[in-house]
Amino acid sequence: MGMSLPVDESDTRCNHDWYETSGMNDQERAAKALRSRAESAVLSSPARAPDSVDSLLPVEMLRVLHELRVHQVELEMENEELRQTQQEIEASHARYFHLYEFAPVGYCTLSEQGVILQANLHLRSMLGMSQETLLRRPLSQFIHPEDANEYELYRRLFSDADPLPAMVLRLLCASAPPIWASIKSAAGQDSKGSSERLMAISDITDLKLHEVRLQKFNLALETEVLARISQLKRMYTRLLLAQENERKRIALDLHDSLGQTLSAIKLIGGHRLASLHSHRSRAEKVFASALLKDLAGAIEEVRRISMNLRPSMLDDLGLLATITWLIAHFKAANPSIHVTEQIELEEEVIPEVLKITLFRILQEASHNIEKHSQATGVTFTLALVGGHLTLSVFDNGQGCDPRSVGQSNSHGGLGLASMQERTELSGGTFELRSSPEGGTLVVACWHLPIET
Ligand SMILES: Nc1ncnc2c1ncn2[C@@H]1O[C@H](COP(=O)(O)OP(=O)(O)O)[C@@H](O)[C@H]1O
Ligand SMILES: [Mg+2]
Repeated sequence: MGMSLPVDESDTRCNHDWYETSGMNDQERAAKALRSRAESAVLSSPARAPDSVDSLLPVEMLRVLHELRVHQVELEMENEELRQTQQEIEASHARYFHLYEFAPVGYCTLSEQGVILQANLHLRSMLGMSQETLLRRPLSQFIHPEDANEYELYRRLFSDADPLPAMVLRLLCASAPPIWASIKSAAGQDSKGSSERLMAISDITDLKLHEVRLQKFNLALETEVLARISQLKRMYTRLLLAQENERKRIALDLHDSLGQTLSAIKLIGGHRLASLHSHRSRAEKVFASALLKDLAGAIEEVRRISMNLRPSMLDDLGLLATITWLIAHFKAANPSIHVTEQIELEEEVIPEVLKITLFRILQEASHNIEKHSQATGVTFTLALVGGHLTLSVFDNGQGCDPRSVGQSNSHGGLGLASMQERTELSGGTFELRSSPEGGTLVVACWHLPIET
């Protein structure tokens, strides 16, 4: 015989209500199920309770009754705690769902295979697609075909790296052009412990469009600057050419008019003076020969100026002869400087267009040595080695700071800048090395044949 527990009237009423199934809510149904499970457990383990209360003494009955009441209260308290915990879990789940669903950024959850398990409202409206369209389909179906490979590479990292760095690619939209999206992702797990990938997706289309516009703008600006530079270079080249032609014209004029006239005066005056020699007083003779000497000096000066302007020798005898003349002139003007010449090439190998540039660099470098270096030794080198035509001028003088020279500044000085410009405009490279201990080295180099 089963144990019949003493129950009061309210219990009976309560139990009566309890067994009513109509109008029960989930909680009540769960409680009913629990009760019936408990009853079957009691029935299946009769050893734990006496079969009959008849065998119990009244005092024992009271004790059992007390035990049962305590146990019932314990169960009720436990049940209340469980109910509260469940409520908290439900509230927290609702909060999480709210955060996920209504976040101002696109969220989606992918299975390990890259299939969409969940997509929030923001992502759905970003793509203009419903939950039904997105769920249970691989995310790859919504990636722009041109970015498919990149996404595939990214997906392969799912199991390795966490969190993954942001990836930028295009996503397809239902009825709009693709959008640019920045995707960040982190590994997660579902309630059964299976791996998931949580993705945060931001629409960066505007940013990308700005970037593209900026790139186009930069490109246009760069093209414009390059066009301006090459225009300036062309103008500078024309200017140099015009300057050379002008120098040539003045040099010719000086030589042909003033130089010739002075030479004629000297010649005729010399003859005339020689024929009248005996009739002149001593003072007149001294004056006449001083005049002739001054005339000779003036002729020499005109020749020097005209040679500096544009040595006709360059056109008549070539660059090597002109260099030899220039160096001889330098030696004569600077007897205290020991000069070494290393001219190791034939006239024919020197490109015609480079000859005036080579001469001008040499001319300016030797002027600088005279003016600024206080050197005791100078080496002029012109050589063709391995297709490289190199002109270098080295002096062992006091040097200078290469960073503060070569530019037009308050101290004047365009010589170095013009050497560099001339070299680079003709397709060469220019270098100035200088220091107080090491002297000054000027190097201009061209790779032959040069492009004109
Ligand atoms: N060989 C050199 N030794 C020492 N200083 C030099 C040498 N060449 C150039 N410099 C320095 O560089 C400056 C600029 O030279 P440059 O451009 O030719 O202008 P400028 O000769 O008219 O001063 C010179 O004023 C001088 O201070
Ligand atoms: Mg100079």
